[in-house]
Amino acid sequence: MNNNFPMLNTGYIYLDNGATTWKPEPVIKKINEYYNDFTANAHRGDYDISLRVDNEYEGARKIVADFINSDYKEVIFTSGTTDALNLVAEGYFRKHLQKDDEIIINYAEHASNVMPWFRLANDLGVKVKFAALNDSNALTLDSIKEVVSDKTKVISLAMITNVIGDLRDVKEIVKFAHERGIKVVVDGAQSVPHIKTDVKDLDCDFLAFSGHKMCGPTGIGVLYGKYELLEEMEPRNLGGGMNASFDSPEEIELKSIPTRFEAGTPNIEGAIGLGAAIKYLESIGMDNIQKHEVGLKKYLVDELSKIEHIKMYNKDTISGTVVFNVDGIFSQDVAIYLSKYKICVRAGNHCAKLLKNKLGTDNTVRVSIYIYNTKEDVDKLVSLLQDKNKILNEML
Ligand SMILES: Cc1ncc(COP(=O)(O)O)c(C=O)c1O
Repeated sequence: MNNNFPMLNTGYIYLDNGATTWKPEPVIKKINEYYNDFTANAHRGDYDISLRVDNEYEGARKIVADFINSDYKEVIFTSGTTDALNLVAEGYFRKHLQKDDEIIINYAEHASNVMPWFRLANDLGVKVKFAALNDSNALTLDSIKEVVSDKTKVISLAMITNVIGDLRDVKEIVKFAHERGIKVVVDGAQSVPHIKTDVKDLDCDFLAFSGHKMCGPTGIGVLYGKYELLEEMEPRNLGGGMNASFDSPEEIELKSIPTRFEAGTPNIEGAIGLGAAIKYLESIGMDNIQKHEVGLKKYLVDELSKIEHIKMYNKDTISGTVVFNVDGIFSQDVAIYLSKYKICVRAGNHCAKLLKNKLGTDNTVRVSIYIYNTKEDVDKLVSLLQDKNKILNEML
């Protein structure tokens, strides 16, 4: 689809894009520019390069806001999805939930969308309930309906999960939830990089995602929240940059939203690198990205289906993720074998440790596709998986 990723010159076939993605030249150039041409702190200086930092940093916020169709004040920079989900759980829901209130998640969620809720359950006596997955391991509104009650206060779900990769009908789930006064938190770590995201259309209350999974730098992410909800959210960190004044414990005044949630020196190169990444993705077009991934996944599924010793767990999902096992071979051994041929895949439980009972295994090989992957990458992978004896011999 494009060739301006320096990592393509290394000869690796990178199929672990659910973990992180490669960075294109415009992103690397932008980060280098910050370090070579205008290094200064943000929101603190009165000299020209510092003002440039402010413009670039706030400009990146505007790029993010336009990308997800939110107001720019509704975009909080975090260190990633994990940080964003913890911020919303701790900053908003710790204050708004009471004993016996209920939170609905499901068994396919990533640890980052489970553990913050478990902590609230332990600390506040709220209950975490699990919506069932269907026969294709997907989550539907019907299974949410089965567990919802008048005590449900929040539904938290990934729009696309990192193992099964099913695209959830978040819009329909949000509509159902809002009719009952339930808030919806969306983990967009695996969806925002791959499909067009419109928070106004989805009408979700919060959305979390990571820059590094969408061609941006590591250590930067976003929490989107509806402005009126952010007004009721507590900052987790206090300190420089987020306060207007602090004369005594009783006289603390915070800066406006979103700055009040970004205490300390922010990840400047991360934010402007993310801005450059979004521009890059937009230059390709999110619809083209999704079409490319879904097409390549279908090709991979068709090819793997021809191999008897391969069992797939998510053939039908509409995303670029395929999880499978080679009969009788531990997933990590498969990954190590493929690594000898410079093919990078992920093996293990993929941080979705609650999924094991439903899948019947806690170990799978995951291939996750992105814009720079090609049919030739898939062919090479498939050819290496065809002969089980070759895998068994070479993994020794
Ligand atoms: C669905 C999902 N949620 C959350 C995360 C956590 O993202 P990060 O490690 O960037 O905070 C991941 C990372 O793999 C993920 O796939």
